[in-house]
Amino acid sequence: MNRPVLEGLRLNTPAYVRHTRLVEWVAQIAALTEAREVYWCDGSTAEYDRLCAQLVAAGTFKKLNPELRPNSYLACSSPSDVARVEDRTFICSEKKEDAGPTNNWMAPAEMRELLQTGDNALIRGSMRGRTMYVVPFSMGPLGSPIAHIGIELSDSPYVVVNMKIMTRMGKAVLDVLGEDGEFVPCVHTVGAPLEAGQKDVAWPCNTTKYIVHYPETHEIWSYGSGYGGNALLGKKCFALRIASTMGRDQGWLAEHMLVLGVTSPEGKKHHVAAAFPSACGKTNFAMLIPPAGLGGWKVTTIGDDIAWIKPSADGKLRAINPEAGYFGVAPGTNVKTNFNCMASLKRDVIFTNVAMTDAGDVWWEGMTDTPPAHLIDWQGKDWTPAIAKETGAKAAHPNARFTVAATNNPALDPEWDNPAGVTIDAFIFGGRRSTTVPLVTEARNWVEGVYMAATMGSETTAAAAGQQGVVRRDPFAMLPFIGYNMSDYFQHWLDVGKKLESSGAKVPKIYCVNWFRKGADGKFVWPGYGENMRVLKWMIERVEGKGEGAENVFGVTPNYSDITWTGLDFTPEQFEQVTSIDNGAWQTELGLHTELFQQLAYHLPQELTETKAKIEGRLGT
Ligand code: GTP
Ligand code: SPV
Ligand code: MN
Repeated sequence: MNRPVLEGLRLNTPAYVRHTRLVEWVAQIAALTEAREVYWCDGSTAEYDRLCAQLVAAGTFKKLNPELRPNSYLACSSPSDVARVEDRTFICSEKKEDAGPTNNWMAPAEMRELLQTGDNALIRGSMRGRTMYVVPFSMGPLGSPIAHIGIELSDSPYVVVNMKIMTRMGKAVLDVLGEDGEFVPCVHTVGAPLEAGQKDVAWPCNTTKYIVHYPETHEIWSYGSGYGGNALLGKKCFALRIASTMGRDQGWLAEHMLVLGVTSPEGKKHHVAAAFPSACGKTNFAMLIPPAGLGGWKVTTIGDDIAWIKPSADGKLRAINPEAGYFGVAPGTNVKTNFNCMASLKRDVIFTNVAMTDAGDVWWEGMTDTPPAHLIDWQGKDWTPAIAKETGAKAAHPNARFTVAATNNPALDPEWDNPAGVTIDAFIFGGRRSTTVPLVTEARNWVEGVYMAATMGSETTAAAAGQQGVVRRDPFAMLPFIGYNMSDYFQHWLDVGKKLESSGAKVPKIYCVNWFRKGADGKFVWPGYGENMRVLKWMIERVEGKGEGAENVFGVTPNYSDITWTGLDFTPEQFEQVTSIDNGAWQTELGLHTELFQQLAYHLPQELTETKAKIEGRLGT
């Protein structure tokens, strides 16, 4: 970077910034994007309040009624920018095989030309007329040996205030970074430059979108979207896609998992990590309130979306939540399905794409049995139950979300911020399946557990743009989030298991669940939510070597009598409906596993093909 360009820019670098490489990179990106000015975020509450006020003035935020929802805001996005864009997400490794068949790939040089270096490079001039915010953030407790630091450069103040809640953000991160610490550089632009005199819109974005990762150089470049996982780059882009490649290289795991603590009535505590695809119940499970009839079980939240899991010296797996907040699905959340979540949302929340009541509060489908008589929907239009009945219009977008600090959660685990993490006793994998997959199965061993996770299918949800409700394979709930070749990732899981087994420590059990089987009437048969504790209780008993079960072709399942039913009217017939194994359906299902394995043939671990053959043998296919 030549001097005159540097000097011509208003870099506003505070005196406390001592990291030369960082300052140079900020200057380079400011020059490339032609940002009007640079602002270094300190992460203070005053800064948060100031930016929120600015977002209100710009029309991006509406301040909610402080009596009903103190210190909270509503943002409504452009209807074209409401979810992650999987078809616009790229893993740009040098070799195509390293991205694998499940990721979009482009050669790094080609992508750099398109975004940065070419004549019409998208990022060039993309921040004209806007402030470029420098957002230093830590994924994981500040200064922890398992945490990693990122710096996001973004032209979106909406992103800044969300990052403040979702990560440890601000000046303290730069103190940890020192003069030459490592950081993951993340460039984000909404791709909507403002020319002189041009008026801004409430939700700037671009119809062209690119969410780009360079796994070899640990870089993230995001263009054209301001929403969620596309724009809050610490989350899916860093903590899953880049971190999964770091984990492969360094012997640890970055997973799309909640982590919870579960304490028995006797006071014994276990920790469980569970992977469910997007909008399939992680936040709900992480905040679960056990039914009173079970006699005093307790669930506490470590994390609701992402886990970083590292083998420790004693041969155990230790997990941390790299995030500091929740960016959760609003629709369907209510005091019955997730009381703790509703309690978390009482104040200090950023809502995105929910509806606003006449009193200046929020509402979404499923929040109350009876909807309010009038609302302003997420697109700013009048909404009444009559209009909804006539047009099918939703008051809130199905992927409407809330952003809230973990510390607002009444069920927050006291260990949630422990830099050493918590020991994982069991893994759970679960998809959204109306048919075929039973309520719960315990894998007989690590390899069979990896097979279950690898072949998991799930019906797609509104968390990603595109078709909804179709079953697709979503291995480990990581299909949209793995930063390298899926088969190499399976191998990594098998390798981690072998290491654990050879250490002599107790290896975590692996379970497969499905809360979503439907009856002939199209309704969920299993009551779900808090009642999922009954299944979790059985798992914990198994972990302790106490619980009974029966072997089937896939593993071990509970008999009706192995589950505690106190306080719930759930008949053996209903239990049969959610646990039965239909041979025909499983023939079809295994056909889909075959298709998956054909797609993933390159580097597919032989142990998985062998496991499949064994299951087929037991099924009699
Ligand atoms: P991401 O944040 O997208 O990764 O998703 P998540 O897995 O955290 O999703 P969340 O917990 O917010 O799940 C949202 C949807 O799952 C809502 O529609 C809930 O009503 C539904 N859901 C959660 N738990 C259950 C359950 O036990 N049974 C049923 N039937 N639905 C559930
Ligand atoms: C998901 O889609 O799995 C999410 C929401 O957790 S987002 O951060 O938008 O990816
Ligand atoms: Mn998620």
